[in-house]
Amino acid sequence: MQIRKATKSDKKPVLDFCQSPYSGIDYIANVWDFWLKDGAFLAMEHKGKPIGVCHASFSKNQVWIEGLRINPEFRQRGYGSSLVLKTEQIAKRKNYKISRMIISNDNKKSIKLAKSLGYKIESRWYLYNIKPKRKQSQIIPATNPKQIENLIDSNTYSKSWKWFAFDKSAISELIKKRKILVFIQNKKTLAIGVWNDSKIDDDVLQIGYLNGTKSGMKNILYHMQNKGYEQNSRRIQILAQQKIKLKMKDLDKRMLFCLMKKDL
Ligand SMILES: CC(C)(COP(=O)(O)OP(=O)(O)OC[C@H]1O[C@@H](n2cnc3c(N)ncnc32)[C@H](O)[C@@H]1OP(=O)(O)O)[C@@H](O)C(=O)NCCC(=O)NCCS
Repeated sequence: MQIRKATKSDKKPVLDFCQSPYSGIDYIANVWDFWLKDGAFLAMEHKGKPIGVCHASFSKNQVWIEGLRINPEFRQRGYGSSLVLKTEQIAKRKNYKISRMIISNDNKKSIKLAKSLGYKIESRWYLYNIKPKRKQSQIIPATNPKQIENLIDSNTYSKSWKWFAFDKSAISELIKKRKILVFIQNKKTLAIGVWNDSKIDDDVLQIGYLNGTKSGMKNILYHMQNKGYEQNSRRIQILAQQKIKLKMKDLDKRMLFCLMKKDL
């Protein structure tokens, strides 16, 4: 058994044994070519054939681990864990301090694997979908970190299914890129939302952090619905922490995810 870089020709044999953990087509088919160029994309080889893969991307002080897949015929032998450990080794050598990954709350095997390697559940996030629609709202982009500081109640925010530190530098970058939306009434910020265009599906808009009053958050969602309507998006995905109680007509509550973290 050998761990090496994944290649273009691994794609077919790997996809052949991949069943999506989240039903439907496995998203790694769409990101494979990008992953070959980005970060570290590892394959485990057995008798010349790939029997597992794992991808890592690096940012600031964090390694993000994703796309862990082991051929069902080769599971329960420690190969999944070895791929994660190898990825962590690469990250440590490059001096990255934190490792994170996102796992569906129903994927008990993976959560167990992560916990056995020292990962802890940092936070839980619900995925919701909402359809684009013509809507009115009074949302503006945030212009100043002071405007939003009371509403940042998380170490992380999500962008295209990766979670990043929600620290000062991230906030000022997001403000510069007009990615933080605010709902203000009587000079008070009542809600914030951080949005992005999903990199995985190009016609999906995402909210990767949401907090505030019920009516404030509703306004942010109306704004996104309208944006989606104007740019012909298929849907708006919302990732909000489990503790955010989101209720709104047309909001489709989907799955719960665990954000796992380990200090390297
Ligand atoms: C999750 C997944 C990657 C795990 O891969 P794996 O190679 O079976 O993982 P490991 O073998 O390292 O660990 C799994 C179990 O095997 C056990 N194990 C490890 N080495 C072993 C060995 N030599 N002999 C017997 N059992 C062993 C582990 O203790 C663990 O047991 P547990 O489930 O009781 O905790 C694999 O099930 C998979 O591809 N699932 C579908 C895709 C998926 O869910 N990916 C993760 C999305 S975040």
